[in-house]
Amino acid sequence: MRTKVAIIGSGPAGLLLGQLLTNTGVDNVILERATQEHVLSRIRAGVLEEGTTMMLQEAGAGKRMRAEGLPHDGFDLAFDGRRHRVDLFGLTGGKRVMVYGQTEVTHDLMDKRAATGGLSVYEAADVLPQDFDTDRPYVTYKKDGKTHRIDCDFIAGCDGYHGIARKSVPEAAIETFERTFPFGWLGIVADVPPVSAELIYANHPRGFALCSMRSHTRSRYYVQVPVNEKVDDWPDERFWDEIRRRLPEKTAEAMTTGPSIEKSVAPIRSFVAEPLRFGRLFLAGDAGHIVPPTGAKGLNLAASDVRYLFDALNEYYAEKSSAGLDAYSEKALARVWKAERFSWWMTNTMHRFPDQGPFGQKIQHAELDYLFQSRAALTMLAENYVGLPY
Ligand code: APR
Ligand code: PHB
Repeated sequence: MRTKVAIIGSGPAGLLLGQLLTNTGVDNVILERATQEHVLSRIRAGVLEEGTTMMLQEAGAGKRMRAEGLPHDGFDLAFDGRRHRVDLFGLTGGKRVMVYGQTEVTHDLMDKRAATGGLSVYEAADVLPQDFDTDRPYVTYKKDGKTHRIDCDFIAGCDGYHGIARKSVPEAAIETFERTFPFGWLGIVADVPPVSAELIYANHPRGFALCSMRSHTRSRYYVQVPVNEKVDDWPDERFWDEIRRRLPEKTAEAMTTGPSIEKSVAPIRSFVAEPLRFGRLFLAGDAGHIVPPTGAKGLNLAASDVRYLFDALNEYYAEKSSAGLDAYSEKALARVWKAERFSWWMTNTMHRFPDQGPFGQKIQHAELDYLFQSRAALTMLAENYVGLPY
């Protein structure tokens, strides 16, 4: 079989790239190792930057997001028992974010791909990008007991942090930068009304907490937990008690609790691979970088990578120019590193660290204090949260 672009991974990055390519007539195939149901079962992020919402609309998969998504003009930081609002809209000259679950984004992109005839192969085992250091790359995979080969012009590694694409690059050709944090996030989803109309990020001596949502009737909550915490040690009751202890009193009292429909612990890490291009292989999304979820940047960085990669591929096929492809890695990494910085800053400002000590706590408190005494400081926070320009 032959295609122009072989995409590994049917998450947001792979699906968004595939749809934009299909819409411009650039033939592509998505190879996904899991089942479609498994991909859709994963509960992930929920805050979209305007650039991401615009790309979903450009892909023709933004209708349900426009109808069901929740536009948010601000969020609260809670510390010292009080909530302080960050006026995103006012501080950024009218920008806002859209609260809309990544699962829904994935669902909408899958539906659009099915409607426009894009080929996705699910349960593709042992996917392997090959000869991407030549101008005749190909990908092999196993399905139904047979080995298949797809010859292509380019391979897009959109297969996430644990994928095969980055691991297929010779060690000498890639440099990685990593920082793991000494804690994780225990998250739950419950069909209860959110405690607040906007998100609340809480810094508390017992640890960080986040109040988010998926709709007016479905809440998404997180508490910081020690590394390697076991979900089984957290019955719902314990979770509700703990998150309410980390919130200002009035907010805790107003919280509606109920049975969790999903509960899991996620590790918190920062990771970047450089470069993001290896001959005819390009990495996009989590395959190339990971951010702590504190800044809500993971999905949005996948979208900006796809913006740059799609524009470059489109230019290659439409204008026979490789300029965009040659510039992709540097351009994508410039935005990735700024998001890494912001996510690292927000994580250090809002979490409790085992080795923080009294001096570290004082510095953290001064950081929060300064934020709400300086429009310049709060503007830094707001302009990063809504998303820096592409
Ligand atoms: N072969 C084929 N598919 C693979 C392989 C492989 N060897 N390894 C992983 N995959 C698939 C995964 O099953 C997943 O569906 O690649 C997809 C990668 O999707 P994501 O991990 O969602 O990554 P991405 O599309 O870059 O989206 C980034 O997802 O993980 C969140 O927080 C992250 O919000 C961010 C977003
Ligand atoms: C979520 O709703 O899952 C969410 C929101 C904001 C974050 C992280 C996760 O920073």
